[in-house]
Amino acid sequence: MAELVVALDLSDAGEALRLADSLAGIVPWVKVGLELHSHAGPALLRPLKERGFKVFLDLKMFDIPNTVSHAVRTAGASADMLTIHTLGGERMCRAALEAAGQCDSPPLIFGVTVLTSFAPGELPGYAGDLRELAADLAVKGRAWGLDGVVCSGHEAAAVKARCGATFRCLTPGIRPAAAGDDDQRRVMTPAQAVQAGADYLVVGRPILRAPDPAAAARAIVEDMEHSAIRNPS
Ligand code: C5P
Repeated sequence: MAELVVALDLSDAGEALRLADSLAGIVPWVKVGLELHSHAGPALLRPLKERGFKVFLDLKMFDIPNTVSHAVRTAGASADMLTIHTLGGERMCRAALEAAGQCDSPPLIFGVTVLTSFAPGELPGYAGDLRELAADLAVKGRAWGLDGVVCSGHEAAAVKARCGATFRCLTPGIRPAAAGDDDQRRVMTPAQAVQAGADYLVVGRPILRAPDPAAAARAIVEDMEHSAIRNPS
């Protein structure tokens, strides 16, 4: 069954913790990304874990192997999942995996394929099919030992078809039917993403901006559950 990850894309640690408190028992995962990490730093991860959440630290690392290795070793000490870019290549990905393996509780390492904010034709230097590119990068990432990839729901089925059902897909760009796309371009509803085979759905603004974020999160979880029941794998 797919799991919901709420992106705590906020600029204030207190506000992030209050939101997390309202989501406890509803969602298993919270995500700390560049915005919150830049404001609050790694100190925020422990209180989130103490509240019972699994923590996804989404820093999308993309650097030389040595730098990524040291960053993963440090960041992986308090996160359950980390992201690196598959375009960092084999040596960078393998360095990240080796560093993660040295953590007391090794975090899952997911490789970003093509950001969900890219529309077809927008990726600099690439005019081809984004589904094919994401699946090609996933095949490589799997061979290098990654736990899964970050891709849009539109690529999840192709990734699963080429990498196998146990290779995991984490999909942002999730928009409930009535929500606008914002800066995202390759979007799907929660139910569509579950049907496409996504294992983790990352949702930020549709929950953060809702008048009642906990109710919005609960509605998405119910949508995911109904979709899984209607389409058992
Ligand atoms: O607000 P929204 O639901 O669009 O937020 C999506 C979250 O997923 C953001 O925190 C963003 O950083 C993250 N993300 C993404 N696309 C990726 C990887 C991560 O949108 N490829």
